[in-house]
Amino acid sequence: MHWWIAAIALLLVVAAVFFLQRLYRRPWQELESLLTRIGRGEQPRTFLLTGTAPARRVGLALEQLLVRQRELDRQVTKDAAEVRTVFGALTDGLLVVDSARHISICNPAFEKLYGQSPIATGTPLLDIVRDSDVLEPIRAALDEPRPRIAEVLAPDRKKQLQVTVVPITGNDGKAAGVVALFHDISRLKQADEIRRDFVANVSHELRTPLSIFHGNLETLLEGGDLDENETRHIYEVLKRHSDRLNLLVNDLLSLAGLESKEANLQLSEINLRNFLADVTRDWAKRLAGKNLSLELQVPDNFPAVLADERRLEEVVHNLLDNAVQYSHQNGRILIHAGALDQEIVLSVSDEGVGIAPTDLPRIFERFYRVDRARSRELGGTGLGLSIVKHIAQLHRGRVEAESILGQGTTIRVILPNAAPL
Ligand SMILES: Nc1ncnc2c1ncn2[C@@H]1O[C@H](COP(=O)(O)OP(=O)(O)O)[C@@H](O)[C@H]1O
Ligand SMILES: [Mg+2]
Repeated sequence: MHWWIAAIALLLVVAAVFFLQRLYRRPWQELESLLTRIGRGEQPRTFLLTGTAPARRVGLALEQLLVRQRELDRQVTKDAAEVRTVFGALTDGLLVVDSARHISICNPAFEKLYGQSPIATGTPLLDIVRDSDVLEPIRAALDEPRPRIAEVLAPDRKKQLQVTVVPITGNDGKAAGVVALFHDISRLKQADEIRRDFVANVSHELRTPLSIFHGNLETLLEGGDLDENETRHIYEVLKRHSDRLNLLVNDLLSLAGLESKEANLQLSEINLRNFLADVTRDWAKRLAGKNLSLELQVPDNFPAVLADERRLEEVVHNLLDNAVQYSHQNGRILIHAGALDQEIVLSVSDEGVGIAPTDLPRIFERFYRVDRARSRELGGTGLGLSIVKHIAQLHRGRVEAESILGQGTTIRVILPNAAPL
């Protein structure tokens, strides 16, 4: 009988131990394995802990915590991707360095500028950038935290960059790093240079006739004993130079009109053969002056050209003017029209002095003249071909020049063939 009671008691004790273990020890074990799995980045199938109500609440809280953390993770990844997209889309080079001058962020534009891709986070700046003009403002902004701006040459030695360095200041007021932005200002610089050259050129062009006016007018005012011939000569000089000034001002106005934002074309369909015949009719006298022959070559059934007639006239006038100016006596001039694919090619060729290969690429620049004194003497302003180029470009076309020194020159104006403008 006694063994029977003892067995029941033992059973009860075992059951109690089992029950207590399940209630108090199991939840801890399960929690531990749950945390290990979360730590490994796995997604546990259940957060239900066996045991008491508090253990179940812990499981539930853990699940909510994990859901929230996943949500945050997702947000951070999304934010990082967005930031990367923005950095990648920036055309300016962007660089962030820490106080030890190690790179913490840089974008593809910066990597491209400095010819290294990818640049790992933590790379010392000195490994990538060696130009002291760039390093100096960064060092200065770290030493004494305020923004700096510097203009530097890109490593390719061609692009000009504006580097803006802004310190990132910590709570202690010291620079914890800097952000540097590399902006390409080559075009701005170039435009500025062109503008300055242009102003200098115009002033120079104006100075000569003005000083001639001044000198001759003084002579007229002072000189009581000038004879009729001398006076007449002075008037002729004044007239010649006022004509030149007129030409210059006209060309300048024409250029200004072509360059203005409102520049527009009055397009009409032009029959080139009739048009060229009309325009060149007025040139008979000038051609005869040098005994030049002029031939027009426009194929039969040549398609009508959609262009601004007045401006096309200016083109032909400028090209013909050069051909006559730079031709020798008894030379031949040829105006040719051809249709190529989607383009119309209008060319003016002469057998004149020609242009050296070193000058050829520059003749469409404003005021560029191979022989400045000679061009001036011949009444040139140095603007004719740049006007031609502008007119071609307004028509979405282009210009080309071909020449052999001493043999002759061909200038071609290529216009799109009735393309929608
Ligand atoms: N047909 C040509 N033959 C030789 N040189 C030319 C010819 N056309 C232009 N050039 C050269 O190109 C320069 C620029 O031409 P352009 O702009 O018309 O100015 P310009 O007023 O001097 O004629 C000229 O000064 C000349 O040196
Ligand atoms: Mg000219």
